[in-house]
Amino acid sequence: MSNTPRILVIDDEPDLLENCRMILMREGYDVRTMTNAEGLDTVLSEYDPDALITDLMIPQKDGMEVLREVKWSHSDLPVIMMTAYATIETAVEAMKNGATDYIVKPFAKDQFVHVVSRALKERKLVLENHKLKLELAQQKVKSSLVAVDPVMKELMDMAARVADTDASVFIQGESGTGKEVLARALHNASRRSGKQFLAVNCSALPANLIESELFGHEKGAFTGASTLRKGLLEEAQGGTFFFDEITEMDLSMQSKLLRVIQERTIRRVGGNRELPIDVRIVSATNRDPEEAVKSKLFREDLFFRVAVVTLHIPPLRKRPDDIPALSQHFLKEVCTIYGRQIDGFTPQVMERLQGYTWPGNVRELRNVIERAVSLATKSIIREEDLPTQLHKSTRRKVNIDSVDTYDNAKSKLLDQFQIEYFSQLMSEEDGNISRVAQRAGVDRKTVYRILNAVGLTKSED
Ligand SMILES: Nc1ncnc2c1ncn2[C@@H]1O[C@H](COP(=O)(O)OP(=O)(O)OP(=O)(O)O)[C@@H](O)[C@H]1O
Ligand SMILES: [Mg+2]
Repeated sequence: MSNTPRILVIDDEPDLLENCRMILMREGYDVRTMTNAEGLDTVLSEYDPDALITDLMIPQKDGMEVLREVKWSHSDLPVIMMTAYATIETAVEAMKNGATDYIVKPFAKDQFVHVVSRALKERKLVLENHKLKLELAQQKVKSSLVAVDPVMKELMDMAARVADTDASVFIQGESGTGKEVLARALHNASRRSGKQFLAVNCSALPANLIESELFGHEKGAFTGASTLRKGLLEEAQGGTFFFDEITEMDLSMQSKLLRVIQERTIRRVGGNRELPIDVRIVSATNRDPEEAVKSKLFREDLFFRVAVVTLHIPPLRKRPDDIPALSQHFLKEVCTIYGRQIDGFTPQVMERLQGYTWPGNVRELRNVIERAVSLATKSIIREEDLPTQLHKSTRRKVNIDSVDTYDNAKSKLLDQFQIEYFSQLMSEEDGNISRVAQRAGVDRKTVYRILNAVGLTKSED
């Protein structure tokens, strides 16, 4: 709110409007008037008032309708209703629809001023409260994720802004980019943080188990169901539920989940009662969800439901500025765990770390640091503590170790070649395995096998 509060007044009587304007201006407010609600949307967004005063009876639209619409689009804007025919019913209805106050015409100047200033005070408190909440959420998100890169910072800001809403959040990003940390950060920054954060990996649960895992089952629902068991969604009541790799969920389960999200109720397997559930849904995938929808692996209607807000985490190679900060962060973390004292990295190491393509993203970086800490013999991480894939390619030459046989040396070189070949393709194709496979002229399984064998990524699970 700028220093001069802005007040918008709508009434079809020009005399009354003028009167209001004079009173409010004398109080030091900025005033704008309208004789009907035409173009109100535009005025609201351009003028951005701190309070709206509207007559209950205005041409074209009635004030109650205006109130409802304004509350939809600007829920924090205080609305004061003016009415010539004050009945308890209209007053009650106005307040029920979100009016801040109402005033009966004709009114005394002092009364009018009092009502307006009270609404503005309330508005100020609401805004301050929002600001504090947002700052708190930003701090919580910041404390869980390291980020220096401006795109990452903006992403975290957005996460903080949506944290305290119930909007379903869809997190997209390559493997190891930090989708799960972000999902947890969203939970911790929300008012649900006192309740559970439960995660399920949709690709790891077999289709026949997932329903009873998520929804629970009644006693005797199927062979082996000897007792009643609550499902995970029920356990997460009041908290956050994380559907990891949601695009991999079995299709029939997808339609059941869609129903749950629409109805906000679940039914245990073998049960006939609908149980209300209140969970915030966060989902993630390392696939392109639109492609998954196109290839009919992922239901489009479910996608829309779970992706009210989408947060796309860029791969690490697109944010090299994050690498020094993340490396320091992991160095500290790993040193604490290992009880070691290592001060930092040589400039050459930092150059290698920032120059590498990181197909396994932040997870791979953490692994590299962990490995380096355990290998380091000095109080600083040096190039020789880095794994081969990070050694500079120009330095690579056929190194004939005196004890190496021809086959051994060849296989080492082949490993190195594979690492570089696939790192480069993965980087150029943004980690999209299908396109990497296509360009390499091999099938996806082969790509996974090679990436896995040379330690470039986790296995296809
Ligand atoms: N911005 C970050 N700051 C600190 N740690 C991070 C950050 N991003 C990722 N990490 C760390 O990297 C590792 C991988 O993160 P996470 O498990 O969240 O990735 P993911 O995107 O869920 O991967 P996958 O797709 O393989 O499940 C974790 O150890 C996590 O703590
Ligand atoms: Mg994950």
